[in-house]
Amino acid sequence: MKKWLCCFVIIISGCQSFGSLEQEQKPSKPPVQVEEPAPSPQTPTPPSEQQEQEELVLEEQFWNQVEVQNGVKVIVNPDNVLVLVNKEQQLPADYKPADLVIPNVPFTFRETDVEKRHMRAEAAKALEEMFTAAKKQQMILYAVSGYRSYERQQQLFVSEVQRLGKEKAVVAVAMPGKSEHQTGLAIDITSPSVQYAITPAFGDTREGKWVAQHAHEFGFIIRYPKGKEHITKYQYEPWHLRYVGKKAAKVIYEKQITLEEYFQIVKKI
Ligand code: DAL
Ligand code: ZN
Repeated sequence: MKKWLCCFVIIISGCQSFGSLEQEQKPSKPPVQVEEPAPSPQTPTPPSEQQEQEELVLEEQFWNQVEVQNGVKVIVNPDNVLVLVNKEQQLPADYKPADLVIPNVPFTFRETDVEKRHMRAEAAKALEEMFTAAKKQQMILYAVSGYRSYERQQQLFVSEVQRLGKEKAVVAVAMPGKSEHQTGLAIDITSPSVQYAITPAFGDTREGKWVAQHAHEFGFIIRYPKGKEHITKYQYEPWHLRYVGKKAAKVIYEKQITLEEYFQIVKKI
């Protein structure tokens, strides 16, 4: 398997360097007439298939590195933009991203100096771009909640258990350490069409539909889609966007899969 992967990487990188060499030199006529090279014994890969193969490889740095601590799987590279946080693998309790900034987008609340207004810089920029594109289509979006500390997530989880009971709470709110909001890469969004609420009805609005169709163009995915609850272990959340970067978001959108499934189909290089 490893051998096969190596060959594949060599083929891919070989193709890329050939392409750039060709572009740099662009000879109009060869100085001497040379014989046509013998056709390669390998069947050439159609571009779309080759493109798909390139999309389905993922460098090692984007995979979770996990350490078992007191029987719990703890992610030791939480700064990874593709970090997979779920009920199985959690963030260190003291993890706080170092590059939190406030995206320049409308929020549903007035307080300015609050942690939930923050996101990691790369995700914040992508969010601004997405909101701007939405506005051009007369789609009004509002941000509700971005970064959350471990402690804040704990408060939310406890109050949800008190409000709904544990069985309902565990599919709605992540336990501390297990929320993507702690990564600074997730944001909950809404629109005036659902009275600025966090509700599954957002998915049926013009804005919610636009977001579901276009978020990947900006590097976001709907992290908890309808019909995938058995994989994500959370209820459908059309409002919860997770930044994963454009390459992964495109694959996840086109294949209509979850982040968990994405890691099942990509090959580590
Ligand atoms: N609502 C999502 C699962 C969270 O609490 O992170
Ligand atoms: Zn959320």
